[in-house]
Amino acid sequence: MSGSRKSRALFTSRFGVIAAAAGSAIGLGNIWKFPYITGVYGGAAFLFVYLAFILAIGLPIMLSELIIGRKSRKNAFGAFKKLAPGTPWRFIGSFGVGAAFIILSFYGVVAGWSIRYIVFSLTNHFHNSSPEAISSTFNAFITSPGEPLVYQIIFMLMTGAIIMIGVQKGIERYSKILMPLLLTLILILDIRAVTLHGAYDGLRFLFKPDFSKLTYEGILSALGHAFFSLSLGMGTLITYGSYVRKENNLVQTAIQVTAADTIIAILAGIAIFPAVFAFNIEPGEGVGLIFITLPNVFMQMPGGYIFSIMFFVLLTIAALTSAISILEVVVAYFSEELKMKRNVATVFATILITLLGIICSLSLGIFSDVIVFNRNIFDLLDHISANILLPLGGMFIALFIGWIYGRYKVLREVAHGGKLKGQFLKIFMVLVKFIAPIAIFIVFLKGIKVLDFLVTFIKTVIF
Ligand code: TRP
Repeated sequence: MSGSRKSRALFTSRFGVIAAAAGSAIGLGNIWKFPYITGVYGGAAFLFVYLAFILAIGLPIMLSELIIGRKSRKNAFGAFKKLAPGTPWRFIGSFGVGAAFIILSFYGVVAGWSIRYIVFSLTNHFHNSSPEAISSTFNAFITSPGEPLVYQIIFMLMTGAIIMIGVQKGIERYSKILMPLLLTLILILDIRAVTLHGAYDGLRFLFKPDFSKLTYEGILSALGHAFFSLSLGMGTLITYGSYVRKENNLVQTAIQVTAADTIIAILAGIAIFPAVFAFNIEPGEGVGLIFITLPNVFMQMPGGYIFSIMFFVLLTIAALTSAISILEVVVAYFSEELKMKRNVATVFATILITLLGIICSLSLGIFSDVIVFNRNIFDLLDHISANILLPLGGMFIALFIGWIYGRYKVLREVAHGGKLKGQFLKIFMVLVKFIAPIAIFIVFLKGIKVLDFLVTFIKTVIF
């Protein structure tokens, strides 16, 4: 792919689009982050709120991004410049580039952990280890100052290299075969997990909601994660949409990608929580949840040695197909807007993001006493990007489609390769004009405690 205006390379097949968009969506968000935050925020109630956000907010915003991308044939920044010239809408694009930077920095760190676990698997490191030993190995690893950086850098180099090779060759080829393989492996893990002794408690934790456990922070995280997991709110799918052919049915693509992403997350949950309970691991364990739980499961499986290697290889690849979609946002911006050469832009962006990632990684160990707003740097960057920047970006994208771009143009763009039947179009427009922006706004204010602050403020001023 080249950044030139004349000929943007397009995805060659319908499956290519879905594979690439699903490759972007499906990643550490589904397999690492979803179980970990579901555990932290108390299980099923969190899951149900998350699912509601996916349907009412995630899906319509995914379609919105694809429409903006395909119509404009531009990166996230240029797209708004083209569709709404001379207006401040283009700053949504800059937001997105900032979010991409931050997300990829800590994403690369966790992906590095996954590579480390390929090596642990190869050397059969956890053979006959107790759950406690597995847990301390994980903690010793992520808090050590040198080792995680090596793996993070390896991952970032792979990401940069694939971006240099280009969109079609780089992205399409890998995701097509490997994502179905990952799905198969997760299904095998599910079977093992639900047949463990004590599995029932885990399933109950995941599926039987106790809404009294839900906090506003949990609701905000569910919203943030809906964006994070579907790769929304910062222009990834605007950028990918810009490579989609006119004949493609965008509605169908959005539905399929959303469904695939959500199913994988739930299946990952089914693989994790029964095992969490069976091995007496804390569901609220945090960032280490899958890395501590899964080695226990593999040990209890015939062929566990091989499955463990395969799993972490595929997880790393899933992370890679997501990471390239994040880096692509930054590179497309640098090369198309700042007129950098594409390769220079790639090297430049990769280096800067890796440096920020190094700080993230160290914040779990030697810099762990640096606490900002009650969080270490790693958590802070995750929180700012997923729970603040992405929902805000998504809110503006919805408002843009609903109020500026408008019903008529939506219908026309969607009609190229499919249709949005009258009723669905109506629902879609209501969602993007009102429901999504208002819901995001409220959850957002409440989640970052601005609303509480305002209420107390008004109360004290009035009374
Ligand atoms: N969705 C990916 C995951 O679940 C991560 C990701 C890729 C992403 N592109 C994004 C997150 C854009 C937010 C925005 O792992």
